[in-house]
Amino acid sequence: MTQPAAHRRASIADVARAAGVSVGTVSNVLNRPERVLPGTRERVEAAIDELSFVRNGSARQLRAGTITTVGAIVLDIANPFFTDLARGIEERLDRDDFTLMVASSDDDPDREQRYLRLFEEHGVQGVMVVPATDDIEHLLAVRRRGTGVVLLDRPSSDPSISSVAVDDVRGGELAARHLLDEGHTRIAFLNGPHTIRQCADRYEGVVKELVAAGLDPATALVEVTVPSLNADGGEAAVRGLLEHGDRPTAVFCVNDLVALGVLRTLRTENISVPAEVAVVGYDDVTFAAELSTPLTSVRQPTHELGARAADLLLNGPDATAEHVMFQPTLVVRASSTSTPPK
Ligand code: RIB
Repeated sequence: MTQPAAHRRASIADVARAAGVSVGTVSNVLNRPERVLPGTRERVEAAIDELSFVRNGSARQLRAGTITTVGAIVLDIANPFFTDLARGIEERLDRDDFTLMVASSDDDPDREQRYLRLFEEHGVQGVMVVPATDDIEHLLAVRRRGTGVVLLDRPSSDPSISSVAVDDVRGGELAARHLLDEGHTRIAFLNGPHTIRQCADRYEGVVKELVAAGLDPATALVEVTVPSLNADGGEAAVRGLLEHGDRPTAVFCVNDLVALGVLRTLRTENISVPAEVAVVGYDDVTFAAELSTPLTSVRQPTHELGARAADLLLNGPDATAEHVMFQPTLVVRASSTSTPPK
């Protein structure tokens, strides 16, 4: 259904009608004003102002064959990990005069698909997506329709689609190994849903490390699914553990925002960190080192991840797919040990 004119964005035809000229004359005023008589140009410019006309950039770029916009869909733009990721993408795109548009799926596959459609309609050069589900058939369809796709922060289940990821299984191993080395034999893992590949892989890494240490995950691991991958989700999850009288001595969190909620709750409950409960996060976002109890965290090379994804996308939709896997590192701080490195 066409929107009523009052709300529809004015088109170039509306401007031509209002100025009493052809669409071609309006196009000349916009692109080659020197070809238009001053009186006519003034009438067209008055109509543009009157109608608040904004030219359709993608149509212009498409006509000129110079599409210079790229879309990125992340899981949660409020998570500093994804803003750091977007910064890495943008700085790489900027070198080639490309513009980045960022959207947040909020872990919702339907919202992700809605943004994909919007980006395709806008005629972007390509999209980088942190998928909200394991199924990427809809991304293969976007690529078949001619828009480049790069999986972001996710290894690809289809070799034909490029991907840039961090080895999250290794990240889970690093966190579990550290807590075992600190003498913990039972770990609470506050995790996201396993439909999110990063969460499933981190869990796999924790289990692998517990088994390698001769422990039974059924007794040595308590996995709690957080209601949301942020500080409120971390608070709700750790409160649930405390209220059920199940106080773990070690809590590994799927990301630093969840860890922030855990630290906030433990402080409110006068539970000392790390003496009574050790806490480890994931991402090593900027605030991790700045907290009153600096947070031990699994560091992701976030900025490099974004820049590399942008590199792959700028190779174009017909380039041979590449699959890049970065390695995480563990940054040990006071939230998980009484002897943090200096
Ligand atoms: O969205 C959940 C997590 O996955 C983020 O915090 C980041 O770690 C990403 O890899």
